[in-house]
Amino acid sequence: AKYTRVNQDTCIACGACQASAPDIFDCDGEEIAFSLIDENKGIRPIPEALLEDLEDAYMGCPTESIEVAEHPLVDGIKEQ
Ligand code: F3S
Repeated sequence: AKYTRVNQDTCIACGACQASAPDIFDCDGEEIAFSLIDENKGIRPIPEALLEDLEDAYMGCPTESIEVAEHPLVDGIKEQ
């Protein structure tokens, strides 16, 4: 399974990820992107049908702000 989230510190709100993968990424009020899958937590597996879109978004982000991993992305100490 794959997990994703946007690094919002480096996202420049170019919107490419939303264009490539509208079912995965969206932009908040300040137009910084986030993952719709799990409120940008990176803890819910991306559905198989969306993996190609995810790859496109990952490759297309000009600031490499899209994090993709094969394990849940959790900051610091693991939840629970
Ligand atoms: Fe931001 Fe990259 Fe998307 S700069 S808007 S995460 S393509």
